[in-house]
Amino acid sequence: MATATTQTRKREAFGSRNVFILSAIGSAVGLGNIWRFPYVAYEGGGGAFLIPYLCALLTAGIPLLFLDYAIGHRFRGSAPLAFRRMHRAAEPLGWWQVLICVVIAVYYAVIIAWASMYTWFSAQLAWGAGNEEDYFFTDFLQMGDVAEGGLSTTFVPQVGIPLILVWLAVIVIMALGVKRGIGVANMVLMPLLTVMFAILVVQSLFLPGAMEGLNAFFTPNWQALADPGVWASAYGHIFFSLSVAFGIMVTYASYLKRKTDLTGSGLVVAFANSGFEILAGIGVFAALGFMAQAQGTDVAGVATSGIGLAFIAFPTIVSQAAGGTIIGVLFFGALVFAGVTSLISILEVIVAALQDKLGWARVRTTLTVSIPLAIVSTALFSTTTALAVLDTTDAFVNAFGIMAVALVAVIVVAWLLHRLPVLAAHLNSRSSFRVGMLWKVLVAALAPIVLGYLFVSELIAKISEPYGGYPTWFLAVFGWGMVVALVVLALLLSLLPWSGRSRAKDDPEYDEFLAEERYDPDPETDTVRVPAERIEGGRA
Ligand code: ALA
Repeated sequence: MATATTQTRKREAFGSRNVFILSAIGSAVGLGNIWRFPYVAYEGGGGAFLIPYLCALLTAGIPLLFLDYAIGHRFRGSAPLAFRRMHRAAEPLGWWQVLICVVIAVYYAVIIAWASMYTWFSAQLAWGAGNEEDYFFTDFLQMGDVAEGGLSTTFVPQVGIPLILVWLAVIVIMALGVKRGIGVANMVLMPLLTVMFAILVVQSLFLPGAMEGLNAFFTPNWQALADPGVWASAYGHIFFSLSVAFGIMVTYASYLKRKTDLTGSGLVVAFANSGFEILAGIGVFAALGFMAQAQGTDVAGVATSGIGLAFIAFPTIVSQAAGGTIIGVLFFGALVFAGVTSLISILEVIVAALQDKLGWARVRTTLTVSIPLAIVSTALFSTTTALAVLDTTDAFVNAFGIMAVALVAVIVVAWLLHRLPVLAAHLNSRSSFRVGMLWKVLVAALAPIVLGYLFVSELIAKISEPYGGYPTWFLAVFGWGMVVALVVLALLLSLLPWSGRSRAKDDPEYDEFLAEERYDPDPETDTVRVPAERIEGGRA
């Protein structure tokens, strides 16, 4: 061990707790907040949706965010290493999360590429006086039909070129590392994003008809609360929005100094994310209120879902509102910044995992991970069938990736490995907000029940009707095939041996970290001052 010690690289770290908090908010605030939340909230009963939303945040989002922080910080590793240190057999859970991030990264980048083109288009009103829907689907995406023509190989340059540029930008940030790359990018982009968004919301509120939009958004439809689907969508949304359960917060927490207030930071991140989300709802619906008034219809007639909301409704607002160009540039610019800070956190899960497993340097690992991902992303998503692939992979990886791994992880951590006591002790030994019995009950009992329900209902929905009306072969490859492949590949990756230079073999920093831990030893688990060699799962 002594000889190997010299080979291990020092683990990277965030410059300070504030940079970590900013980066965690940067990860959480993403495409999901700006164009997904407003519509999910509106569909789920408007003002009344805030009830299931807050329940989901308080009973699942925040408790699982604390769990992610505790795992990442206590076991000081990327997702596969942290789970492996918890128990050798838990390593596949970490790889499953890494692979989920691979899938999300390849399609997330293309939405950022569209948004960057639309920032430019807004400045020139590129869609002219025509129909914004046709412009998006026909002129911009040149959308083809998978049912008729199969998977396309036709390159759409106005999508492909910005997509390559997005990848180049994030590769540079990733190669610079945690402190100089991710930390600095968030310190620059997050304040900019906040200012841009604040101006956008204020400007939207002054548009004629804005109040109608806000009325539509906030008027509670109490009946919606009787629909279990509304509760399911609130819980489903909160996982993606807070970036919990797919390895991001485990990885980011592993870059924190030993003495850091974990739960206090988690509360700041969670409430900042929700604040942003609700602000996005206000801004978007104020703008939709204007659009409805301009078209002589009601808000329900103009509120469309996700992609439609951003890339069809907003261009219409840009064309019709006074100062529309500024609204467009701010809205699409905000989407780009929010997207980039989330995409780098998604990529960091993958880069950190390979760095830990192979013991490679930062730049080498970044290039080895990012270049193939950029190629796959460009090949799949700059063709005329991109939208169908994006829609399907997004729906399946959310339902049977993020939700499924969250379900399995809480069962493994709480019920099979009984690690909640040691994780609670770890959080309490350094945090301002203490977790107790309630946290354990929420993670061990409520989370599996809710996640189990969501998983089964999604399974029934997707089996009973072909998702999106796409052909069977297409769903078999990009839907079901993809989610099954993630599990199989995760198992295979966990079987590969860890390199002699990996942190699982040798990590003096981790040994030192453990030796200095001071909370009560838990008889069931590995804790204080146990020689590193005897830590269960701690060594390969
Ligand atoms: N949390 C990120 C989002 O909301 C992934 O888009």
